[in-house]
Amino acid sequence: MQSHPARLIALKRDGGEWTQEQIRDLVSGVVDGSLGDAQLGAFLMAVCCNGMTRDETTQLTLAMRDSGQVLAHPQVARPKIDKHSTGGVGDKVSLLLAPLVAAAGLAVPMVSGRGLGHTGGTIDKLGAIPGYRTDLALPEFGHVLEQCGYAMLAPSGALAPADRRMYATRDVSGTVESIPLITSSILAKKLAEGIDGLVMDIKTGRAAFLPREADARLLMESLVAVGQAAGLRMAALLTDMDHPLGLALGNALEVQEVLLALDGHGPDDLREVTLALGVEMLLLGRVAEDAGTARNILERLWRDGVVRQVFRHNLELQGGDVRVLDEPDRLGRAAVVLPVLAKTSGHVVDVEPRTLGEVVVDLGGGRRQPGDVVDPHVGVVLQKVLGDAVQTGEALAFVHAADAASAAAAAERVAAAMPIGAERRRRRPLVLGRLA
Ligand code: URA
Repeated sequence: MQSHPARLIALKRDGGEWTQEQIRDLVSGVVDGSLGDAQLGAFLMAVCCNGMTRDETTQLTLAMRDSGQVLAHPQVARPKIDKHSTGGVGDKVSLLLAPLVAAAGLAVPMVSGRGLGHTGGTIDKLGAIPGYRTDLALPEFGHVLEQCGYAMLAPSGALAPADRRMYATRDVSGTVESIPLITSSILAKKLAEGIDGLVMDIKTGRAAFLPREADARLLMESLVAVGQAAGLRMAALLTDMDHPLGLALGNALEVQEVLLALDGHGPDDLREVTLALGVEMLLLGRVAEDAGTARNILERLWRDGVVRQVFRHNLELQGGDVRVLDEPDRLGRAAVVLPVLAKTSGHVVDVEPRTLGEVVVDLGGGRRQPGDVVDPHVGVVLQKVLGDAVQTGEALAFVHAADAASAAAAAERVAAAMPIGAERRRRRPLVLGRLA
């Protein structure tokens, strides 16, 4: 580092504003290790307490992007548009959305995360498909993108490496919930993919990363403004995460739901959120002039089986067993499948998503620590959703577990997360806001 780190940190502690050079200096100190752990913790806490201007956040984002390789894909003529979700329970949208918009002429170079905590990760879901590889070398990633219109890659140290150390330190220093730090963390990684535009799916509700709607809206504004300042075409939807998305929770079970959805038999909420985000992506890619036209294009491609073909092509290119498309049982099955039976009749008055996400993690389907090994087969498949009528003895859900004891423990918690009462409640709208 050129500047004295303690002086830079004190400047922010006292409410000052960093210059572009000072921010670049801090980020290079993060990457080359000259900024020690104590200093990095203090730097992050100073930002968390005193914030950063939009300009500082943009400079931090760009410096983090430039801390590693920045992809370009000059061989791909299509508009390069990606989607990023802040994460939720049952959120398997990326698996459907990427082939959907690729079928419509976009290129999606998607670097996704692994699951941590109660929300799952796209890379773990894809890992449930036998043979599917997400550890592609960057030239192969570009090749897959060129061939089928989308490519899926696990994060590595190559793109925005500054974020790795910063995120790990945020996690242990109480500084995760800072809007400028979240903004720069997300956008630096996305900018390094070499995209022209990004659609953000900002989740709000009990299982969201930022549960309060006011916080989620602040994040949405920050992401759109900073993304635009960094040169991206941006749009964002605020979507409901007060209940799970779809019925399947758990990696292989979610892939199975995606396979059903590809054939037009998936749950309505999954289809609606996927289409809404797809419309925004086509608009950013200038493939369609208005939302109605974009939706018609996507619905037709989906109905005509083109999306399924693109999905199949991607499986071939990334080593996945294409037979799962016609034989989903090839995804495998947990040793024990236990129904969760209703103890009374009435209506389902809640489907509490955070508990359900935690249940999947405790069954072995997610991670408590970054290095934990995930069991792809375990999870929960809902049979009822909010407002559904239910009779005593009917199945509310099925628990898929590795053994009888964990199945029984999970079933109790699932039953408690799905109380039955007299009232017939309805889910709020899936899309709660939009910014473009
Ligand atoms: N996702 C990220 O990649 N970074 C954050 O800071 C929060 C969510």
